[in-house]
Amino acid sequence: MKVGVVGLGYVGIVTAAVLADQGHQIMGVDTDKDKISRLQAGKSVIFEPGLDELISRNHQRFEFTSNYDGLGESEVIFICVSTPDRGGEINLDYVFSACESIKNVGSKATVVIKSTVIPGTARKVFGRTGIRVVSNPEFLREGSAIHDTVHPDRIVMGADEPQRLILLRNLWGFTKAPILETTNENAELIKYASNAFLATKISFINEIADLCEKIPGADVSVIAEGMGYDKRIAPEFLRAGLGFGGSCFPKDTRALITFAKENNTDIRIVESAVSVNSDRVKKAVDRIEAKFGSLKTKNICVLGLSFKNDTDDVRYSKSWELVEELNRRGGLVKAFDPTVKSAQGINVTVNPDRCIENSDFVIVATEWKEFNRLNLNTAGRVIDFRRILDKGKADMMVGVHDKN
Ligand code: UGA
Repeated sequence: MKVGVVGLGYVGIVTAAVLADQGHQIMGVDTDKDKISRLQAGKSVIFEPGLDELISRNHQRFEFTSNYDGLGESEVIFICVSTPDRGGEINLDYVFSACESIKNVGSKATVVIKSTVIPGTARKVFGRTGIRVVSNPEFLREGSAIHDTVHPDRIVMGADEPQRLILLRNLWGFTKAPILETTNENAELIKYASNAFLATKISFINEIADLCEKIPGADVSVIAEGMGYDKRIAPEFLRAGLGFGGSCFPKDTRALITFAKENNTDIRIVESAVSVNSDRVKKAVDRIEAKFGSLKTKNICVLGLSFKNDTDDVRYSKSWELVEELNRRGGLVKAFDPTVKSAQGINVTVNPDRCIENSDFVIVATEWKEFNRLNLNTAGRVIDFRRILDKGKADMMVGVHDKN
């Protein structure tokens, strides 16, 4: 099929690469001309395991442009533009303007919204542009985006009439995942409810971690393991730590809360999940100072700057927030990250051993597995806020009583 992809961020470029690998012809459109030049030159625009290989293997199936005219012949067009936060609510301007531009090139394609959008967006798009869109939310995670797109747990697609879904059903059929066909509104809300539920799971285990820290002998990772064997609970998203960050959970939970209020209802459990998440970093630093004293003028090495492992994305990163909090308390902070080599206002060290040596504290802030292989013998106190170090390596761990 001739497939158009508008918006070449995480979701767009991964969708384009996976569909190209399935033999489809891709027209990728983005208003960022610099990004288009890099893609045309075969250069990568994000760090995502396996993505570069997929793009170079299928290079003859891609065209990249900042001009919507190229979409005239597409049979299916995916809208993957960002839907940023605007004071706690979602800003849909990029979605509307993409739909407007698609209409202006006289496209007859099935237009599909992959961007995360609040329920009612498909209806609004129809009201503004006359285009009846299909809603096909994306559930991929950064760091395992290709795997998640090729092997999703489910495909959700919503439309006002089932025949609008025929092309999409064919396009995603290769995944063999269960397909839920429903209304636009259901498809849109399934995405928010899923992200909010996962975020709530994280805040839940983080509060259990706080409790474990008060009880000698308790350990949150064992509690999570014991809970996770129950199929109704499942083991994923029960890793305690500094809380959830990234470009999705913080924004989507806030947008859901605002959307619920606009509809005269409160989702109190999600409000609590957000509130628990908001003071994670401050509480973590309080705990260090309570045990080891003031951090003023202490040399501190923070391991990890990205919002999680296997990505270079630092948006709403908890480790970044941690660095800022440590600086506020007078700490002398250096940071190391396997992918992030510079960060405004942060002293980033490219060599992890240099970062670690002679530091009073080493703090693991992002769950990069390779941190467990670093030599920590030259460091002072070691603090593991992500529970990735082997037993015995850390002087303080999230979810464990300090005297254990
Ligand atoms: C999330 C969802 O997992 C995807 O399903 C969804 O498609 C995506 O948002 C989106 O809306 O586009 P992502 O933001 O890439 O994916 O990252 P996650 O793996 O969900 O992690 C989010 C944050 O939660 C990270 O800061 C991570 O460190 C934290 N986390 C995750 C924990 O603290 N504990 C856990 O057990 C899991």
